Amino acid sequence: TPAVFTTIAELRSAIAGRDVALVPTMGALHAGHLALVDRARELAPEVVVSIFVNPLQFGPSEDLDRYPRTLEADLEALAAREVEYVFAPTVDEMYPTGAVDTRVVAGQVGGLFEGRSRPGHFDGVLTVVAKLLNIVQPRHVLFGRKDAQQVFLVRRMVTDLNLPVHVETVDTVREADGLALSSRNRYLSDEERRAALALSRALEAAASSADRGVDAVLAAAQGSLMGEELVDVDYLAVVDQRTFLPVDDDARGAALVLVAARVGGTRLIDNEPIVLG
Ligand code: PAJ
Repeated sequence: TPAVFTTIAELRSAIAGRDVALVPTMGALHAGHLALVDRARELAPEVVVSIFVNPLQFGPSEDLDRYPRTLEADLEALAAREVEYVFAPTVDEMYPTGAVDTRVVAGQVGGLFEGRSRPGHFDGVLTVVAKLLNIVQPRHVLFGRKDAQQVFLVRRMVTDLNLPVHVETVDTVREADGLALSSRNRYLSDEERRAALALSRALEAAASSADRGVDAVLAAAQGSLMGEELVDVDYLAVVDQRTFLPVDDDARGAALVLVAARVGGTRLIDNEPIVLG
């Protein structure tokens, strides 16, 4: 079983000078998180998993209070993966003064897509990721491509602030029927679970239209999303992988299709890389 630390001081003294890979999570671990752990294991001799539901990245009307907290099950899953260290601090340990005065501010892309629907979200993410990197000082840090905008902004922060860490990403882990694994999937009723498949189906439809250009991609995705009454689309976009800005109508080459939707009361996101022809 992993050594579990709830204070920064104890974790720091346990891992001082060690070569570790860090997997930051908010817990409620599923096979997507565990894929990051498996990759971390290949990169470094020891693995640190952080479990912290970060209040700073939740809006006032979001699901902070009902976000699933399953520490016992999480520790079992991590024990089975032979993870060496778990860092599970309290909110007070991470934010002892309550209000956080100094924050990392995401740039322009931080206000688009997820950031437009969730103001301040990415400042909260980048601030806690910067804190975790400073606390753990890992050689590698791992993120899932499911949260593509998060990956983009973390990479940007690491570059902009010259943080001495290698960012590694892992492909989205999906259920057999295509639904991207998410800790929030457990909020879905059976009926919503069926409707939620529209997101991955839309991305598949988008990918198979990629050789016909951006408009065809968007139309194909829209087509699969419109059929589902329970699905309320927040945004659907094709972005340039290098800038995370919407591509031009005549764009070619590698791009990313993004989708976010509300299914019942649950907000879900997904994305798929495509090659525009
Ligand atoms: P959380 O949602 O718990 O996700 C932790 C990591 O698991 C993220 O890098 C996320 O992209 C990855 N992940 C989630 N679902 C995945 C899937 N189906 N396949 C592959 N990877 C998946 O993302 C966060 O927490 C927080 O914002 C955090 C980075 C921990 C900062 O608080």
